[in-house]
Amino acid sequence: MHTKVADLLSSKDYNNDVTAKGWVRTKRGNKNINFIALNDGSTIHNIQIVVELANFNEELFKQITTGSCLCVTGTLVQSQGQGQSVEMQAKTIEVYGTADAETFPLQKKGHTMEFLREIAHLRPRTNTFGAVLRLRHHMAFAIHKYFNDKGFFYVHTPIITGSDAEGAGELFRVTTLDMKNLPKTPEGAIDYKEDFFGKETKLTVSGQLEGELTALALGLIYTFGPTFRAENSNTPRHLAEFWMIEPEMAFYDITDNMDLAEDMLKYLIQYALDNAPADLQFLNDMYDKELLARLKSVTEKPFTRLNYTEAVEILVKNNAKFEFKVEWGIDLQKEHENYLVEHFKGPVILTNYPRDIKAFYMKQNDDGKTVRAMDVLFPWIGEIIGGSQREENYDKLYARMNEMHIPEKDLWWYLETRKFGTCPHAGFGLGFERLMLFVTGMTNIRDVIPFPRTPKNAEF
Ligand code: 4AD
Ligand code: MG
Repeated sequence: MHTKVADLLSSKDYNNDVTAKGWVRTKRGNKNINFIALNDGSTIHNIQIVVELANFNEELFKQITTGSCLCVTGTLVQSQGQGQSVEMQAKTIEVYGTADAETFPLQKKGHTMEFLREIAHLRPRTNTFGAVLRLRHHMAFAIHKYFNDKGFFYVHTPIITGSDAEGAGELFRVTTLDMKNLPKTPEGAIDYKEDFFGKETKLTVSGQLEGELTALALGLIYTFGPTFRAENSNTPRHLAEFWMIEPEMAFYDITDNMDLAEDMLKYLIQYALDNAPADLQFLNDMYDKELLARLKSVTEKPFTRLNYTEAVEILVKNNAKFEFKVEWGIDLQKEHENYLVEHFKGPVILTNYPRDIKAFYMKQNDDGKTVRAMDVLFPWIGEIIGGSQREENYDKLYARMNEMHIPEKDLWWYLETRKFGTCPHAGFGLGFERLMLFVTGMTNIRDVIPFPRTPKNAEF
């Protein structure tokens, strides 16, 4: 049995034999003694293997290069050198896999992020992506813990859907029809009756609508699953496949919704600080010297809350600074969101947006112009959460769907919840990778998901 490097490094079991398995990060030394830094992914830190060359076969030792995979047995000793508490005096070394020094791409330090994306099959073996992937795990776990502790139920909503939840039309099709020989109706349209599900189907853009159905039965629910958007936005904040957390709460209004969003984000960030200090310290030192300070500051003070209309008043005064000029009714751009979070020196929750730029399901305000939407804007990221109180009134929802040409035949079941025991309710969606951008300080969303899906890119 071998011991994880993380456990070896915190062990005080000196002078006993242990086995470590992992990948060689570096090998250095002289003709008598060598030092191998071995990493197994359990921690950002490596264990130092001390090798007295006289005890080892020269041919075998030559096979050990950066990237090769080893099984090492030896004695755990208190380290003489600086920077580590323990090290191993090697007794036996088995080479599981060599890594040809001519062709192994992760030879030197300081590869660009762009280059690492091209070798996404190997980048988990870098310090940076090890840290990011471990943090991603911690955040996913913390999300489940947060909701479970609060009495929310985790609901699995479908990935294949017949409806467009956001009404933005950015859907990927799901079909088994023969693309070269599509069945046609007498009118010449594609005959989806012949397709696998007997209707047109897509990959979901959100689990919200089905989430609402279950919240109106279980009270407090959340979803956490993959979502898909075929928007052709090649930006550092958009993925075609991303993960979304969508809580939905019966009997919550917009204020309860904002309170939950703020509390959850603060909890998650505090969780990262408490549970992944070494990885965060590494990212702070390597990429972003303000990362830890920024994370702490978000947990410490209340988020600013203001109306869209108030935000527009602030922005209009500064229109000279913006590429896209602001007027009431526009969808805010990244530059405007950035301005607001800088202006208020921290996260901002904007509410009561114009109804014409928001989805059909949002609760309509009495002014006839705005809806009870809320977006949470974060430093560096912009929009991290989008949500709303939902329109629970059947007639108002029905009228809005008609106005927006949302087919009743696709969403009759959603409408029925407003017919049978409707109630005030609210929810929101947190983009998991946007959260990961904030937590890791990475600047491109392609670098916080192991295998990103973006326009013209679905390798790996
Ligand atoms: O604002 P959005 O579109 O809201 C919804 O989908 C609602 N159904 C949520 C709800 O009320 N249950 O998306 C929610 C969040 C955004 O704030 C953003 O963080 C993230 O999802 N997001 C994306 N993340 C990565 N790539 C994309 N293409 C994203 N689109 C949205
Ligand atoms: Mg949004």
